[in-house]
Amino acid sequence: MLSPQESQSLLEAATSVLNQAYAIYSGFRVGAAVLTQSGNTYVGCNVENASYGLTFCAERAAIAAAVVGEGPQLRLVGIAIANERGATCPPCGACRQTIVEFGPQAWVIYRGKAGTEQRQAQELLPEPFLL
Ligand code: THU
Repeated sequence: MLSPQESQSLLEAATSVLNQAYAIYSGFRVGAAVLTQSGNTYVGCNVENASYGLTFCAERAAIAAAVVGEGPQLRLVGIAIANERGATCPPCGACRQTIVEFGPQAWVIYRGKAGTEQRQAQELLPEPFLL
């Protein structure tokens, strides 16, 4: 698991970009922050679209930023997800598949029914699609 300090600072980084979210359709702003094996942190927010299905979740936006920063060797150690309402917000299926791509053992920190949860990506998506 990530240490309390690591998970706290990742949650703070996720919270810090909430106001950047482009969430004019749902009004549900989400921020995410990833910690990479190289020790870097990258953030992302949700980016909605009038064609709803094109919406980018915060998690995938953060992972895309991390790929830009580190290239194809990117390995994820952790990812934290925050929303402004303190609502339960486990990552969606598409984001789980994307997290597993870069870190099946990455720790995913999110608000679950019972408060903040920390689970491994491979536990959240036990049978990912692999090529
Ligand atoms: N959303 C995320 O960014 N991450 C999640 O884990 C769940 C949902 C976004 C997508 C959409 O912009 C809004 O939240 C409502 O679904």
